[in-house]
Amino acid sequence: MTTAMAADTAPASQDKYLPISLECLQPERQAPCDLFIRNREGCFLFFAQKGLAFDASHRQRLVANGISILHIRDEDSQLYFDYLKDEITALVRNPSCRPEKKAAAVHSACQDILARVTADPRAAFIGQACEIITPTVDLIVSDDSATKHLIQLTAYDHYTYTHSTNVGIFSIALARLLYRNHSMGELRRLGAGFFLHDLGKCRTPIEILNKPGKLDPEEWQVMQRHPQEGHTMLEEAGYMTKEAQIILLQHHERDDAKGYPFGLGRDDIHPLARICRLADVYDAITSDRPYSKRKSTFEALKLMREQIVTDIDEKLFTHFVRLFHA
Ligand SMILES: [Fe+2]
Repeated sequence: MTTAMAADTAPASQDKYLPISLECLQPERQAPCDLFIRNREGCFLFFAQKGLAFDASHRQRLVANGISILHIRDEDSQLYFDYLKDEITALVRNPSCRPEKKAAAVHSACQDILARVTADPRAAFIGQACEIITPTVDLIVSDDSATKHLIQLTAYDHYTYTHSTNVGIFSIALARLLYRNHSMGELRRLGAGFFLHDLGKCRTPIEILNKPGKLDPEEWQVMQRHPQEGHTMLEEAGYMTKEAQIILLQHHERDDAKGYPFGLGRDDIHPLARICRLADVYDAITSDRPYSKRKSTFEALKLMREQIVTDIDEKLFTHFVRLFHA
């Protein structure tokens, strides 16, 4: 028998828990594992048992209480992400599902899996990330309306997983505009590189990532290692592709040769890495950072246009601006 309990009746044990988005639990499907709620005191309270048919009334009850995040036991991660991959794949292929619904579910799924990979970059989670990225790319490539919604859903906080989701969405949307003649298979091959471009930041100390000021030369050196660290991690996990290799290694190279890690010049930077960098720059300007407040889309694009002469490719930028047209 399956149950959904009042969240304040049964404190759970002191297991490790992982946050998941309510948006990822599809209506009328069975909960893939036990679900918990975190209360104001930080205790995890049992909400629903694995196998419960998670219906509209459960969702409404949670939403009415201002709850958009549930928790699962850490040990159930693989179970949950397998469920997520199947649900997202089916949702994207479902012609009767509304574009905004598809966009919301895909966005939450990417956030959940990238948060997991950022916290625990073991090969199994990197593999599950690649599997969830694939239907996300399919949606962006095949559905203009859902892509508009996805672009509007990009969040503004400074977490690495939020940034990775945003950059992945912008980059695939831009690649689709540029490579109109490419097949779905070819565009799919770009997904892992764009969404996992900052994988190496898992190995950058949090004090450096969140430092509320300029990095000193030593810290800057550590920060500059993340392209190569990410490359090593993806290779060791067994998910390296030619496209991902280029994107991970070159996404901080600049046309004026002032980038890192190699200081490549304009002619040596691969077009895929340019796409990623453009999305990366835009997302950095439009997100709240420990050292600066975010700018609006209009202000960010204006600022980027001023950089065209030295650092940003004009043709690429013109296509990028089109992503924000109503
Ligand atoms: Fe980066």
